[in-house]
Amino acid sequence: MIVQRLRSIQNEFGFLPDKELKELAREIDVPMYRLEEVSSFFPGFRLERTDPPEVEMKVCRDLTCHLRGSAALLNEKTGLPVLAAELSERTGKSVCVEGVSCLGRCDRAPAVWVEKRPMPKHVHAWVYCNRSGKDLEEVLTALAEDRDPPAPDPDAEYQPHTNANRGYATTPPDPKKKEHDEHPPLPAAGWSLDVYGRQKWPRDYRAVKRFTDYLSKLIRPIVPPPREMGGKDLETYVQRFHPLLWELKTANLLGMGGAGAPTYQKWLDVWREQGPEKYVVCNGDESEPGTFKDREILLRMPHLVVEGVILAGLMTGGAAGYIFVRHEYHEQIHALREEIERAKEMGACGDNIFGSGRDFPVEVFESPGGYICGEQSALIEAMEDRRGQPRNRPPELTTNGLRDRPTVVNNVETLAWAPGIVLFGGDKYEMGGWRLAADPKIKFGGRRLFSVSGDVARPGVYEVAVGLTLGELFTGDKYCGGITGGPLLAVAASGPSGGLLPAKIPVDPKFDEKKRADAVAKIRERSNQDADFMEWFLRTYLPMGAKELDLLKVPLDLTFFRHLNGALRFPVEAMLGAAITVYAGKVDMLDQAVNYTEFYRNESCGKCVPCRLGSQKLVQIGQDLMKRRDSGNPVSGAEADGVKKDVKEITKTLQLTSICGLGYVAPIPLATIIAYFMDSTQKK
Ligand code: SF4
Ligand code: FES
Repeated sequence: MIVQRLRSIQNEFGFLPDKELKELAREIDVPMYRLEEVSSFFPGFRLERTDPPEVEMKVCRDLTCHLRGSAALLNEKTGLPVLAAELSERTGKSVCVEGVSCLGRCDRAPAVWVEKRPMPKHVHAWVYCNRSGKDLEEVLTALAEDRDPPAPDPDAEYQPHTNANRGYATTPPDPKKKEHDEHPPLPAAGWSLDVYGRQKWPRDYRAVKRFTDYLSKLIRPIVPPPREMGGKDLETYVQRFHPLLWELKTANLLGMGGAGAPTYQKWLDVWREQGPEKYVVCNGDESEPGTFKDREILLRMPHLVVEGVILAGLMTGGAAGYIFVRHEYHEQIHALREEIERAKEMGACGDNIFGSGRDFPVEVFESPGGYICGEQSALIEAMEDRRGQPRNRPPELTTNGLRDRPTVVNNVETLAWAPGIVLFGGDKYEMGGWRLAADPKIKFGGRRLFSVSGDVARPGVYEVAVGLTLGELFTGDKYCGGITGGPLLAVAASGPSGGLLPAKIPVDPKFDEKKRADAVAKIRERSNQDADFMEWFLRTYLPMGAKELDLLKVPLDLTFFRHLNGALRFPVEAMLGAAITVYAGKVDMLDQAVNYTEFYRNESCGKCVPCRLGSQKLVQIGQDLMKRRDSGNPVSGAEADGVKKDVKEITKTLQLTSICGLGYVAPIPLATIIAYFMDSTQKK
């Protein structure tokens, strides 16, 4: 209630006027300090006493935008701030240009967010993407002079590169076919995720209908298994009494938000908890620099997300669903709200869903802002009107989530896969993975989306068979169409959190035959399929005596990355996320890594002392390395050893003591510089 009310005041005025806060405190009967406590935490809120500027331009300073020159735009002496100062003086208006964290438009870097107070009615903000400095100067000047700014770049008018551009287009459903499909979707992306588009069906929530039909045929309602039941008995129980839930197990659908937790397990755990107050929360906060796939799903296929939330709710016995979306995705928020209304009209959402007697309302929760809200327990804190700081776990959210009740928290893409799995079965999804034609044993399961930005011909959002290689994604004609700007230098395979992986990763010379066999045997203890693949991979791409691993040969599979870390003992843990940024030719690796480190410092919530102080210390170390190098006096010898030791110690401390993943990954960018790109500390 508090966060959402503050968000609407911020949206209306562009800041939080004192008068409005006092009125709100009176109305909802809370002391002012409660409002201050929350509003002072989130970067998306601006208090009146900070004097909000009349014209404000925020330039994304992160990852791909940094690669595409946002630092020059933000330069205090030569960039847009100089013009802002001139305009302030000439027009008497306060005009300000500052940096902001990733805006989720990394495929069109640099991205810029502009507001003018008071904002014209029906305009949330103007977003400009991939514009020159001159264009942005004109935007600022026009607004300061009270003229209309140049037309912005809304997401709905942009057709990103997707599989559809490469001959995989699907025909959008015919809007005249069914009365409930009166809003035809935006052009399809050519993904098999888009089950309705692919089948040319009206978007009529038939996966929900399938489940409610199943319920209506039962003589007795489905009840969760007894608490003590486990192992094979539990599996048999779910297969027999909750077969559509079992499809998620067959699909082996992993969470697409980063951690890759099995979706079946989360839903099962929540189903087994006592109801009726259980919740489903869709995490649409997508703030990891380099990630923008959920932006596309939410805008072009909101029906899949709403349907996924309803399915999760009905299947786990939930009472209500929430879709938490970052506030910078205002078009997506609008699309979701319209979609929820459409679902209600057709009886798929709200009261008595498809006549089943089951109720399940869904609503959108607009994020107050801040990267840390993407951390699932911080997101829940924000939804409960507290500062968005991650919780200590256990207890887990599946038992003590929203309002301290069992809660399923899933990423947008994870939920969007659910309708297709319910309709076509888990096998069908699993079969979508990559497999070796010559040996069907060598395979992966499932499909997923990746956001690719940086030095490729066609940055965009691509759905791939899990197990496709990084090389095929970057150079394949069906996907990014080639690396641009020179030979591949490095890849950020998990936004900034995995640091920078070199095109060729050095391999420990002690990785002999015995170590290989041990590594494969260890994997086999858990999965024959994974072990078979690792055996084949090592034989094919890392023959005995090989000194380096070609990154382009590595398959896009989270579990494989984990196994590879275990087998090859990389100096820094390699990670795979949904955001991939490619660096080619001559890019200053140290500068990029310092930029990544600054991002974590800026976004640390400050709850853990080691993260709060350690992230700042890491920035200082990185900036010192740059200053020394640029002044022609790079660190070397004992001094360089000292830097390596400091980074190692900070890494160890943060990884042992941090409450959430941000502290764990904050040192990784600099650690990868030390492990792979030490030459970038010597010369540009
Ligand atoms: S690790 Fe950092 S971001 Fe995470 S809870 Fe601690 S201080 Fe906050
Ligand atoms: S919009 Fe700038 S890095 Fe994402």
